[in-house]
Amino acid sequence: MAAISLISLVTISVFSSILSFSNALSVNYYHQTCPNVESVIAKVVHKGMINDKTVPAALLRMHFHDCFIRGCDASMLLNSKGKSQAEKDGPPNISLHAFYVIEHAKKEVEKMCPGVVSCADILALAARDAVALSGGPTWDVPKGRKDGRISKANDTRQLPFPTFNISQLQQSFSLRGLSMDDLVALSGGHTLGFSHCSSFQNRIHNFNNITDVDPSMDSSFAASLRQVCPMHNKVKNAGANLDSTPTVFDNKYYKLLLQGKSIFSSDQALMTSSRTKALVKKFATSQEEFYEAFVKSMIKMSSISGGGTEIRLDCRVVNH
Ligand code: HEM
Ligand SMILES: *[C@@H]1O[C@H](CO)[C@@H](O)[C@H](O)[C@H]1NC(C)=O
Ligand SMILES: *[C@@H]1O[C@H](CO)[C@@H](O)[C@H](O)[C@H]1NC(C)=O
Ligand SMILES: *[C@@H]1O[C@H](CO)[C@@H](O)[C@H](O)[C@H]1NC(C)=O
Ligand SMILES: *[C@@H]1O[C@H](CO)[C@@H](O)[C@H](O)[C@H]1NC(C)=O
Repeated sequence: MAAISLISLVTISVFSSILSFSNALSVNYYHQTCPNVESVIAKVVHKGMINDKTVPAALLRMHFHDCFIRGCDASMLLNSKGKSQAEKDGPPNISLHAFYVIEHAKKEVEKMCPGVVSCADILALAARDAVALSGGPTWDVPKGRKDGRISKANDTRQLPFPTFNISQLQQSFSLRGLSMDDLVALSGGHTLGFSHCSSFQNRIHNFNNITDVDPSMDSSFAASLRQVCPMHNKVKNAGANLDSTPTVFDNKYYKLLLQGKSIFSSDQALMTSSRTKALVKKFATSQEEFYEAFVKSMIKMSSISGGGTEIRLDCRVVNH
């Protein structure tokens, strides 16, 4: 009896989790209503990337921010309205750019299938394309997100800070249903892109009352960062690439991390717990294993459900 009811309990819970998952998002969501949506978006992302090499990094980061605030509901694409400041204009917006690529994709998609494809799905697909077009893995994106109607600059305080230690990162990720393994794999997004000095200032000036520079950072690497980012930096947009191949989606980020050549405290923090450190070593050794883990964790992150209710007609403003 006990064994049977245990089995049925397990069966029911496995079933209901599969059901609730497939109810929420599915790979074939637009199969009937907009069959060519993915190729149209990929074309726009490709064009954007040819014009500006920094577009893929921008799109990947944009999707991460979107999902970490109110779930993946395109809240991050809304413009501020009057006195009410949107996420876009919140504090860590310093490197957010290339919104025009999503707006262009939306226009093309609307021409083909008006009122059908959400901005949140377009952003999730564009992020996948950004990775694939940078030489990284590709995957099927589950779709069916709805767009939200709320976007508040103040909410961006809920994003993890680059100064976070491992327990703060763990907390930030677990609040969103993401594990330490997801944290290590998703931090690999820092194989693309650039950071302004302000985001790693804490590691190269006045680190603590004993030393100016984070001792876990390679000293010649630290010296080069201090040269680009002096204490009273006057160069607008000064900063550093997140790895040595910033337009290629490879496992270089993990290789450099093992050498003390990562940019943020939050990157270096992955070396401070044995489990995360072991994963960093694994991904530094095997690009294949990194790709596989990244895809799994991206699908998880991009499925964080938001409270969206509509298919926005213009990604910058809520429907009337
Ligand atoms: C683990 C917590 C994370 C923290 C603390 C963090 C923090 C940051 C910071 C501070 C920047 C640079 C901003 C600037 O000064 O210009 C940045 C850039 C970036 N982040 Fe993260 N990030 C995290 C996770 C992620 C995830 C999960 C992804 C995607 C999977 C991601 C993708 C990117 C990309 C692609 C850039 C470069 C953007 C560009 O060049 O336009 N980050 N991140
Ligand atoms: C970033 O936010 C500030 C206000 O916090 C705003 O003045 C600025 O225009 C925003 N930058 C971008 C690129 O959105
Ligand atoms: C702003 O965000 C912080 C942290 O998420 C929260 O504690 C605070 O209540 C918010 N303030 C307003 C005015 O919404
Ligand atoms: C991380 O920082 C928080 C807040 O400063 C602190 O309470 C915690 O002990 C730190 N954890 C580790 C592992 O250093
Ligand atoms: C230096 O910092 C440590 C902790 O980081 C603290 O315990 C110590 O009192 C500080 N020393 C001085 C001289 O401020």
